[in-house]
Amino acid sequence: MTYINLVLIGFMGSGKSSVAKSLYQKTKKLILDSDKIIANNENLSIPEIFSSKGEDYFRKCEKDFCYFVSKNIQNCIIATGGGMPLFCDVKIMGKVFFLHLDFDNILSRLSKKEIQKRPLFENKNQALELYLKRLETYKSNADIIINANQSLEKISQDILESL
Ligand code: S3P
Repeated sequence: MTYINLVLIGFMGSGKSSVAKSLYQKTKKLILDSDKIIANNENLSIPEIFSSKGEDYFRKCEKDFCYFVSKNIQNCIIATGGGMPLFCDVKIMGKVFFLHLDFDNILSRLSKKEIQKRPLFENKNQALELYLKRLETYKSNADIIINANQSLEKISQDILESL
């Protein structure tokens, strides 16, 4: 088994946190979830960070997270925030898996409550525009593109088989 970090990237609602948990069940590697760690460090929720400190501040926290992981962490599962590949070089953290999910499936996965946790998902049409705009960046930052329109079991199996 490899000691390299497994880095999950993808749009909001593409299942990074759920896939991370499924990978944990199979490998027992620890999960580091960038949003959860940043929110905990700042003692604020993600929407609170956006509204009180601004998106630029949040992106700086993501950059710091990415750099710290690249220098100090190995053998973990890294669940990233959906915007991280746009602002940071995610490849420095480990092997990058893009969870590629159709926008319709993303919409059907996200409850109202889940949407409220995501300041950049407030408007469905704008979210679709962002999704389309970001696709190329996700693809070009990925070592492996995973079809995430499948069961969690199959997704995590595909990831582990590619190692
Ligand atoms: C963002 C995605 C969110 C969170 C923040 C910004 C984005 O994470 O980091 O709201 O720019 O796509 P999830 O991908 O876990 O929703």
